[in-house]
Amino acid sequence: MPGKDDDSVILEMRETRVRFKMDAGLLKAVDGVSLSLRKGATLGIVGESGCGKSVTAGAVFRTLPSYAEVGGDILLYEKDGKRLDEPINIAKLNPTGPEIRGIRGGNIAMVFQEPMKAFSPIHTVGNQIIEAIRLHVEPDEGKARRIAIDTLGLVGISSPEQRIDEYPHQLSGGMRQRAMIAMALSCKPAILIADEPTTALDVTVQAQVLDLINKLKAEINTSVIYITHDLGVIAETSDEVAVMYLGKVVEYCAVDALFHDPRHPYTRALLRSIPTADKRRKGRFDSIRGTVPYPMNLPERCGFFDRCDLAEEGLCGRSAAPMVEAAPGHFARCFKVEPYAAKEVV
Ligand SMILES: Nc1ncnc2c1ncn2[C@@H]1O[C@H](COP(=O)(O)OP(=O)(O)OP(=O)(O)O)[C@@H](O)[C@H]1O
Ligand SMILES: [Mg+2]
Repeated sequence: MPGKDDDSVILEMRETRVRFKMDAGLLKAVDGVSLSLRKGATLGIVGESGCGKSVTAGAVFRTLPSYAEVGGDILLYEKDGKRLDEPINIAKLNPTGPEIRGIRGGNIAMVFQEPMKAFSPIHTVGNQIIEAIRLHVEPDEGKARRIAIDTLGLVGISSPEQRIDEYPHQLSGGMRQRAMIAMALSCKPAILIADEPTTALDVTVQAQVLDLINKLKAEINTSVIYITHDLGVIAETSDEVAVMYLGKVVEYCAVDALFHDPRHPYTRALLRSIPTADKRRKGRFDSIRGTVPYPMNLPERCGFFDRCDLAEEGLCGRSAAPMVEAAPGHFARCFKVEPYAAKEVV
């Protein structure tokens, strides 16, 4: 996998883990995720509800609750436009300390799945966006206000001159989502993490938001981590894609390979479950049988074992599956996948 010696990588996760200490035991929300984000590229993360997509994002942005334990490495190779001699290990930073605050905004910005997480309820939306712009892009208050109003307009907020002085709770859910996207984009981040950014929006605004992200990429070569449960959005947005299942990456490859040559049974099942017009007409949906297990006190075996058509008791039921390089740069975590050159990756 690309990493430290590859200049094109801006962020790398190595065996990143997130555990929540709960009454009944340890909840393993993210269980050894290794991923690389290249400069200017979009990495899609896809998987069913509860697979650990948002918790992975929260680990990078360090916005998880205090009872979360973050382990492994999250390496940032570039800060404020400069390649670092030594990467910053975000996983080891104090989540409330000055270092991570210096990274949030201009270096890494985040569009949260729940917009209330992005805003403080006691300041107007405008003041929060203006403050972020002044910190990262334009110190002059008047100019920053102008940029904020323009960006609010660009994400489909009508009368942005008035809306800018409202408080987050005065906005509808959809409007808050747009305001949060405006805040993230107006900081001109080197890395944008977008967690289901378009789900609450109508189709036209969805297209506008994707357009804005593309403009940012063209303008300043922003790298994007795009989180969604929708494979159609992945096809439209991503260069590389990681399929997550039960806190692990189970397939990781270029986006074309995912659609044309999927290797993991879970990915294949996800692809079969995409509703198409034809399937709708025939009333046939191949939804994946069963549900994602709750990631607490689970037996040592492949996480997809109970739901997989190919599962073999002796082979898949005794230990977690290894990540295998199925074709150059194409990884799948499955006992049934043959390595292309008898090479195993951890
Ligand atoms: N704050 C939390 N405290 C305890 N458990 C949590 C917390 N946040 C998430 N989890 C658990 O961690 C696991 C991963 O959740 P996560 O929110 O990352 O899923 P997701 O892939 O983003 O799902 P969705 O598509 O529904 O957004 C789930 O089992 C969830 O119940
Ligand atoms: Mg989520």
